[in-house]
Amino acid sequence: MKNIAVIGGGTMGNGIAHVFAQNGFQVALIDVKKEILDKAFATIQKNMDRQVTKGSLTEEQKQASLTRIALYTSISDGVENADLVIEAATENVDIKLNIFRQLDGFTREHCILASNTSSISITKIGSVTTRPEKVIGMHFMNPVPVMKLVEIIGGYKTSKETTDTIVELTKAIGKVPAFTNDYPGFISNRVLLPMINEAILSLEQGVAGVEEIDTIMKLGMAHPMGPLQLADFIGLDVCLAILNVLQDGFKNPKYAPCNLLINMVTAGDLGVKSGRGFYDYSHGTKELVVAPGFSKNKNESEGQGMPS
Ligand code: CAA
Repeated sequence: MKNIAVIGGGTMGNGIAHVFAQNGFQVALIDVKKEILDKAFATIQKNMDRQVTKGSLTEEQKQASLTRIALYTSISDGVENADLVIEAATENVDIKLNIFRQLDGFTREHCILASNTSSISITKIGSVTTRPEKVIGMHFMNPVPVMKLVEIIGGYKTSKETTDTIVELTKAIGKVPAFTNDYPGFISNRVLLPMINEAILSLEQGVAGVEEIDTIMKLGMAHPMGPLQLADFIGLDVCLAILNVLQDGFKNPKYAPCNLLINMVTAGDLGVKSGRGFYDYSHGTKELVVAPGFSKNKNESEGQGMPS
């Protein structure tokens, strides 16, 4: 494998392109909008600069990595030489199926088609192609350059050869693969999202304030971020979409998203990306101020998450 195409220049797509380019692969980064691609490239540069400052990358390695990234606004041009395509588009089933139908037509016969989906069925994605044995899940974690895990998801028809190739490739880019079968939410989000939902429900019920909930999980369980901050980081719309996939897939009410999460997404408070979620990011993401309307802790004034 030499040529990797990444579909989508958002947070995950640019992180995936970054890691492959840094590890010597030629990367075609594809998005429909030129502005998104320019922003993605600037983000990769900024994150590599951060690595240069920390000493984990030299200036020469950075420059060489950046020259390995080519930007495309057309899927057909971007994937024509690809040995592997990793789709990291919006977490929407119709958009993903449409992309995979196109990829099946535009890519060479040997090309493996991977999705970075956080919960959508790989079997379903594979079913719209003529090569379901070459369709697989490669679920990277945010921030991609930092997080070691890649959850590898085998669909019903994914071949052992495809899985073995992707497991080896994951190791070659310095990540640790962990294999799961194709069940709703796989493992990562089947376990993570009920915890986040429970934290939001606890806030909704007034059990504790935003900072108390996050502090308990950070200091008590050694999580790098509390569940409310993590929800903001992932995106509340993404959290809601994953919970809906879990609930639809298992037909079990224990996965039902809580009302506060639904209301916040409906109101457009999506977390870091919209500037406000449980915390207020309008002064920069390093400064975590509990968003207006929420109580910092249980004994402070009432807010939308803290009924009396
Ligand atoms: N690119 C490159 N390096 C980065 C980076 C990026 N985008 N973001 C952070 N870093 C580096 C920093 O330079 C720093 O490097 P050193 O250790 O060499 O100093 C290191 O990562 C830590 O960063 P910071 O000092 O800025 O901040 P921090 O210590 O608070 O860590 C964090 C930030 C790594 C994001 C940490 O808070 C964390 O691990 N949070 C949890 C992340 C998590 O759970 N991710 C999974 C989310 S779920 C998901 O992605 C999948 C899904 O389907 C929903």
